Amino acid sequence: MVQINLPKNSEVEKGIYYQDKTGSKNIRKVNVYRWNPSDEENPRVDTYEVDMDNCPSKVLDILNKIKNEIDPSLAYRRSCAHGVCGSCAMNMDGKNGLACTKPHSEIEGDINIYPLPHLKVKKDLIGDLSGLYKQYESIEPWLKTNTKVETTEIKQSQEDRKKLDGAYECIMCACCSTSCPSYWWNGDKYLGPAVLLQAYRWIVDSRDDEKKARLKKVADELKLYRCHTIMNCTSACPKGLNPAKAIAELKKMLATS
Ligand code: SF4
Ligand code: F3S
Ligand code: FES
Repeated sequence: MVQINLPKNSEVEKGIYYQDKTGSKNIRKVNVYRWNPSDEENPRVDTYEVDMDNCPSKVLDILNKIKNEIDPSLAYRRSCAHGVCGSCAMNMDGKNGLACTKPHSEIEGDINIYPLPHLKVKKDLIGDLSGLYKQYESIEPWLKTNTKVETTEIKQSQEDRKKLDGAYECIMCACCSTSCPSYWWNGDKYLGPAVLLQAYRWIVDSRDDEKKARLKKVADELKLYRCHTIMNCTSACPKGLNPAKAIAELKKMLATS
């Protein structure tokens, strides 16, 4: 897994220290990035002493415990708690991942939690994904077919269905795109691995009739070819997918079309 260089805690304003009040002998220090549009001291890192005797196994459990028992002002996204919705993506111990599937036992020493890198922060651990969603919308992620789907079933062979494996499972968590240096510097133009994987998913769908037009749309120096095969995206994906391979496939299709 590629380690991402985040600002060291010493480079960010030291925030509030929340000392344990339970008297527990099993305490871990959790450093959490804080940013609030209405605060003057931004950003800062708050430190929480968390009683691990009464904390389930995942990083999200720690955050829930902090929010419920120590500091209700902490903001982060979460929903399914089962690695399905993608909303709890954040940077833990220097690595992007899903807080609800990341065991805190895998992190040694203090637990450092930051928002996904290189996004504008809306509050605390909540990054602004509106740019990424606009890019997602631009690839038109829905079936485009000349078949009347209301009345006709579109059959798919087992081989064709297999082509979607490794792409349909993507939960659009953005762990890959926000770990890609090319996306950090060119995110306004380069589509990035999450969106390109989705573009690929519709291009290889045998039921879709717009393959050529879809390919033409991504065949662009900035949208696609800003991928320099850095591979952080594939290392970062918490679902074990390989967006770098999908991007390479797109380039191959364009070279041979
Ligand atoms: Fe998340 Fe993986 Fe999809 Fe990227 S490819 S958005 S890391 S699930
Ligand atoms: Fe970025 Fe992955 Fe390409 S990290 S440069 S999208 S291989
Ligand atoms: Fe849904 Fe973590 S809360 S993926």
